[in-house]
Amino acid sequence: MTDLTASLKKELQALKEKHLFRTLRVMQSSPDAHVMLDGRPFVNFASNNYLGLANDDRLKRAAMQAIERWGAGATASRLLGGTTDLHARLEDALARFKRTEAAAVFPSGYHANLGTLPALMGAEDTVLLDRLCHASLIDGARMSRARLKVFRHNDPEDLERTLQRIAGRGRKWIVTESAFSMDGDVAPLPDIVSLAKRYGACTYVDEAHATGVSGPEGRGIINQFGLEKDVDVCMGTLSKALGGMGGFVCGNRTLVEWIHNRCRSFIYSTALSPACAASALTAIGLCLSDSARRQKLFRLSARLRQGLGLEPASRGPAGPIIPYLLGSEKAALRLSKSLWEKGVFAPAIRPPTVPKGTARLRFSLTANHSDEDVDAVIRILRHV
Ligand SMILES: Cc1ncc(COP(=O)(O)O)c(C=O)c1O
Repeated sequence: MTDLTASLKKELQALKEKHLFRTLRVMQSSPDAHVMLDGRPFVNFASNNYLGLANDDRLKRAAMQAIERWGAGATASRLLGGTTDLHARLEDALARFKRTEAAAVFPSGYHANLGTLPALMGAEDTVLLDRLCHASLIDGARMSRARLKVFRHNDPEDLERTLQRIAGRGRKWIVTESAFSMDGDVAPLPDIVSLAKRYGACTYVDEAHATGVSGPEGRGIINQFGLEKDVDVCMGTLSKALGGMGGFVCGNRTLVEWIHNRCRSFIYSTALSPACAASALTAIGLCLSDSARRQKLFRLSARLRQGLGLEPASRGPAGPIIPYLLGSEKAALRLSKSLWEKGVFAPAIRPPTVPKGTARLRFSLTANHSDEDVDAVIRILRHV
């Protein structure tokens, strides 16, 4: 065994002892509300397929037709030759969907955050991040070499105190999610935007979990609050409610031209595949034309929250992400295992994904779940 392997093994063993070791679960079915895992059927509460579109025939048909028409891969980075008419139409549709001037599409949401933050922020600047921001926002902010400050989760008063303490010449950036990935709660965007105006800060809002879900047409929480003109950068993904893969940044034309010229993950990575671009275009159309899935999702969410005895959500109806807090990693793993034995797949979420002491099960709903699925998990949780 080499020195490297021996030391990795030792560290992996330490993770196991701390209940932080992670393994992959292999699925033998498409990732829908009901799945096959290890050869057994499960009700699946582990996907971000909120609208249940990942396995939708219309998206699959669009992807297959795009492969026939455009080929399997985009073959080059966006600037080098990887931009087809399909990518241009998708960016157009995203800009209209988010009510902005323009959009830039990336191979994933992670790419979008990892490249866009360092393209916009530099060593002179200060980035103020909500404490529960996603890893891709933290990593992008770190790569920018800006000074990082963390404010208390969804707390405009703490944000204001932090803004007051910033000195120096650079820009100030407030970075937040609009719907938080592991807690499902909504950021106080109107307060954040008004603080940004008062203190001359720019705003970067990640709508990964709001896109397709929130607002009357699924346009997101920025739209729900009518803040399209006030937020500088709106980021999102095609990989959650839109059922496919890819990321995007929406904003004004100048912002998008800047991304084309300065964003390394846009410039130096192969473009989104034609299949993904086509399925995303179809998903946006479905989002706009069909609100029934969203309505069902919010109804199921209220039913599950009530069944679990959780408080109603603040700032609007509760979305599809429902955290069931346990605290210790061991307790979260134990409960996840008990549910697993009863045919419910709800993985334990542990640090570093969530802060220490807040390990949990994260139930995420899709419009393809039924009332019976929700009632079954409530019943099982009462017994275990
Ligand atoms: C808040 C947030 N931003 C960005 C991403 C990255 O998006 P993608 O999965 O498309 O890479 C995620 C993924 O989980 C996320 O939760």
